[in-house]
Amino acid sequence: MKITFANPTLPAQGIVVVTATEGAKLSKSAAALDAKLGGAVTRAAKAAKFKGKAGESLDLMAPDAKFERVVVVGLGKADELKDLSLQEAGGRIYAMLSGQGATATVVLDAVEGAKIAAADMGANLGFGALLRSYRFDKYRTKEPKEKKPLLKALKVLCPTSAKAKATFADMEKVADGVFFTRDLVSEPPNVLYPATLAKEAQALKKLGVKVTVLGEKEMAKLGMGALLGVGQGSARESKMVIMEWTGVPKSKAAKAQQPVAFVGKGVTFDTGGISIKPSAGMEDMKWDMGGSGVVIGLMKALAGRKAKVNAVGVVGLVENMPGGNAQRPSDIVKSMSGQTIEVLNTDAEGRLVLADALWYTQTKYKPKFVVDLATLTGAIIVALGNERAGMYANDDALADQIFQAGEAVDELVWRMPLGKAYDELINSDAADMQNIGGRWGGSITAAQFLQRFIKDGTPWVHLDIAGTTWSKKAKPVTPKGGTGYGVRLLDRLVADHYEAK
Ligand code: BES
Ligand code: MN
Ligand code: ZN
Repeated sequence: MKITFANPTLPAQGIVVVTATEGAKLSKSAAALDAKLGGAVTRAAKAAKFKGKAGESLDLMAPDAKFERVVVVGLGKADELKDLSLQEAGGRIYAMLSGQGATATVVLDAVEGAKIAAADMGANLGFGALLRSYRFDKYRTKEPKEKKPLLKALKVLCPTSAKAKATFADMEKVADGVFFTRDLVSEPPNVLYPATLAKEAQALKKLGVKVTVLGEKEMAKLGMGALLGVGQGSARESKMVIMEWTGVPKSKAAKAQQPVAFVGKGVTFDTGGISIKPSAGMEDMKWDMGGSGVVIGLMKALAGRKAKVNAVGVVGLVENMPGGNAQRPSDIVKSMSGQTIEVLNTDAEGRLVLADALWYTQTKYKPKFVVDLATLTGAIIVALGNERAGMYANDDALADQIFQAGEAVDELVWRMPLGKAYDELINSDAADMQNIGGRWGGSITAAQFLQRFIKDGTPWVHLDIAGTTWSKKAKPVTPKGGTGYGVRLLDRLVADHYEAK
């Protein structure tokens, strides 16, 4: 969808959205439109008991011969307006209007008593509408045209619109990243497997990202026995993709060049392997590459908006299949770090992939920090549901930065514990460790496993995104399906703390 900005004028026709704040207080434009319509808006507000609360709206179909539709959207209390409330309003506006016409106009006025500037209101409203407009329908060849969304262009009219447009330009790049992630997690696993996912990542070269793809031979040479063991039951070759974005000028000091690193689990389909999963719900395991999808989408966002940071993204791509060559429960594999792992359950595969991806990232790049993302455990969904990702950290400052970034963009995390007693649960009699820790605290023992592959001195955060990668229901700025959760969160982390001024 195309979002454009201009200064406010009162539209004379078409599909028009205006706003009200709590107490059914009509904005300047809403009041002007009401006058033009002979008081139809105030009458409708009274009849519908419209209060102007956030999430409320008033819908007038064809209130006169000129206007197809006039919608008044509630923004809530003026002094509580912020980025997120405008994004949500934008998302709701898109959802209301998408089925009607090709274009619509939203008129925003400066709100008395608001702490957010008019330009930021406009930009955030546009961002929310854009994020909500995503749809994955490339395989729906028989859907009638009139059932598809019709809205193609949204005009946002707000004071200081040139500023809104400039702010929105970066947001649009972030949305590009979010949409890429959503596309990747939505693709079916017969289309998206390690080689084709690696190929998708190579599209980032166009944006100036250096992309390197390792195949099984190269990974074997590097000693990545943990990752390779997971993929050995699949007919598809395992891959590792390394993406490097250099946004800090080469003239800057070495310290400023040190990259931040993001590592993602990319299991393009997780059958469980020989420890095979039950068939009910197994289709969800097409999005078990969600962590890698976020890392790739994030690199797209950072490169797209030319972030002043050096960032590296590393994704381990495998398909976890049963088969004559699949690894067996009780196999012992040797990871790149040299540590050996007894594979007691082939369905606890994500941590095996990450073990080698994390080690590779730290040895090769010596990053400022590493954040890994993975749809790692069902247990985190039991603990936190679909509302927050589980966060594990060896560094309080980094954890706090990520927590705050999450609150700011509404991609929420909740910190979970690590500790020696949990770590002991993955000791093995046969090898340096085993890949499962028993029934209880399953997300925690998975994180403990990952921590055994984090070097002393590397600040590290692990995000278990099993509950947040996919949504069965739509939210204001996220249609149902792949959410792209994590792209906005980590883009914000970088923007707030790791970009050169
Ligand atoms: N990919 C799954 C975790 C998962 C479950 C993600 C549901 C999204 C939704 C992971 O590889 C897995 O199978 N984990 C096991 C670990 C167990 C065998 C220790 C799990 O959570 O049951
Ligand atoms: Mn699994
Ligand atoms: Zn998995």
